[in-house]
Amino acid sequence: MHTDNLLRLDANENSLGMAESARQAVVDTLDNSFRYPDAQRAKLIGKIALANAVTEDHVLLGNGSIESIRMVVQMLYQKGLKTGQPFQLVAPTPTFACAELYADSLGIPVVSVPLMPDSCDLDFDELQSIANAFDGISLLYICNPNNPTGIITSTAKLRNWVTNAPNNHYFLLDEAYSGYVTDPSFESGIEWIKQGISDNLIVARTFSKLFALAAMRVGYVITNPQMASEIGALMSVDNTNLSAAVAAIATLDDNAFLALSLHTTNQSRQMVETTLDELGLRYLPSQTNFIFHEVKGDVKVYIERMHEHGIVVGREFPPIQSFSRVTLGTPDEMTVFIETLRLFREKGWV
Ligand SMILES: Cc1ncc(COP(=O)(O)O)c(C=O)c1O
Repeated sequence: MHTDNLLRLDANENSLGMAESARQAVVDTLDNSFRYPDAQRAKLIGKIALANAVTEDHVLLGNGSIESIRMVVQMLYQKGLKTGQPFQLVAPTPTFACAELYADSLGIPVVSVPLMPDSCDLDFDELQSIANAFDGISLLYICNPNNPTGIITSTAKLRNWVTNAPNNHYFLLDEAYSGYVTDPSFESGIEWIKQGISDNLIVARTFSKLFALAAMRVGYVITNPQMASEIGALMSVDNTNLSAAVAAIATLDDNAFLALSLHTTNQSRQMVETTLDELGLRYLPSQTNFIFHEVKGDVKVYIERMHEHGIVVGREFPPIQSFSRVTLGTPDEMTVFIETLRLFREKGWV
């Protein structure tokens, strides 16, 4: 909890706050806090399996999706050690850096492939050729929609790559923002797991964004049962606490909250896009709860100035220059952001 009065539009959190149903579920269950959370964890796994039309042995809960992402890296690192194969992580840049940071800490080589200069889409040819040229295990971390760009990649290209990749190429599709996607061409990797197009495919999801439970730390992966058991073997037992489990269950059941959550973000996105259009600032077509947009001058200076005006945005995302990421908070919050952006225009800062 932050004690300052800053408007935080920097971490892609959901400013609506947790669902009332989730809050009530946490309160109602506090008296059970002295028990281990097995029953509620099992119930949550069952609900996630049902919602995604897979069997429960496809689902692994994590302490946030970050834990799952880390354990995928760890599992493949150990597979490499056991089988005497080198292991590398290949990821676009910029993207969400958690897999990369963890790989770095284990001494795993990371190959970063810049996004295409104009479209900011994945450079499929380069990603593929780096994996193909490597004599060992490659983990391809693909965030779709990507953070910080907010755009989805081509379903056809990604599906084709996953389908035809050799069996030492693994794909971790991070779908943290898939709940916001409206583009009908998007297809989740979960569908491909169900269709059995690859045994080497893992999809990570989170309750931190659309579900507004970031501080509860609950996420999951869906993959085939064999892979799930290999990743699960490394995860800590009971890694989802009681409050997190019941809050996630309640929110999954709360269609009204989920509809409101989506509606609020769409409204905020519309407000910001209209303003950016009026100001002639370019932006990428966001399929998420944030927008990556042009600020003209130096992004670092822009971030500092926003901070001086009480708003936290950003951070820098090299190698992309002059673009900033702003989280879509509530419409009231975005009104404050928009007023500040207009003020910056008057001052000639954007
Ligand atoms: C792409 C992506 N994956 C994962 C996360 C973190 O998710 P969690 O809170 O479930 O660990 C974030 C958070 O910003 C994210 O942007």
